Amino acid sequence: MASLLRLDRVTAGFGPTVIVEDVSFSIEQGDVLAVLGRNGVGKSSLMKTIAGHTRLHGGGITFNDRDIGALASYHRARGGIGYVPQTRDIFPSLTVEENLMIAAQPGQWDLDGVYELFPNLAQRRRNGGQEISGGEQQMLSIGRALMGNPRLLLLDEPMEGLAPVIVEKLFEVFELLRDTGKFAIIFVEQYVNLALNFAPRTIVLDRGRVIHDGRSADLAADPEKMAVYFGASGQGANAGREHH
Ligand SMILES: Nc1ncnc2c1ncn2[C@@H]1O[C@H](COP(=O)(O)OP(=O)(O)O)[C@@H](O)[C@H]1O
Ligand SMILES: [Mg+2]
Repeated sequence: MASLLRLDRVTAGFGPTVIVEDVSFSIEQGDVLAVLGRNGVGKSSLMKTIAGHTRLHGGGITFNDRDIGALASYHRARGGIGYVPQTRDIFPSLTVEENLMIAAQPGQWDLDGVYELFPNLAQRRRNGGQEISGGEQQMLSIGRALMGNPRLLLLDEPMEGLAPVIVEKLFEVFELLRDTGKFAIIFVEQYVNLALNFAPRTIVLDRGRVIHDGRSADLAADPEKMAVYFGASGQGANAGREHH
């Protein structure tokens, strides 16, 4: 059986500029993959490449037995790729509920399910997208991705800039989603230890290339590699931060 998502020697970027270089990996339903690496190495560009927001210069992307390399982002979303961008990208002129409904596709996840997962959003359903807090905007962005009933969830630094209490709440939601086994999840995160604990497998990027691909537990247990990839203390203040 073919993989759910397969990147085969993918090179991509913005216009003529190449950012993602010669990237290959594949994942199956239920797989959880962390994508790590320092700022500016191309983590977001890789997510955009899967979601259809870059120009594909070479290589192939298949999803669900289908070549999606030439498909517009809209069709990839419809086809089961739920993308939560680093920039959140909610529609400020629409209400919370309209933001959710715009992405709705038939399946297990509907308004009730999203509101149960994020009670804040239920309370704010009539509020405009710009009237809610940063944490609520991130919940909305995740909820909107779920409304599309994706088979693959792309989460790009979903905790960035949020208060610890919100980070904890979101992480619980991600664990819950992961433990359903119903999605594949690709998770970009600056908090290295949090990501290594969350995802059984980790890819490390440097200058757009995959420099490491393996079991997260093996990487976490290898201080030399951790120092090379993330800095002497394992990416500064972020490395010490762990979920509990
Ligand atoms: N829209 C864009 N147009 C041109 N270059 C971009 C664009 N977005 C990001 N880049 C460049 O791509 C490189 C990787 O960025 P990014 O994928 O955001 O890295 P990361 O998410 O790992 O911090 C950076 O050099 C950045 O300047
Ligand atoms: Mg990024």
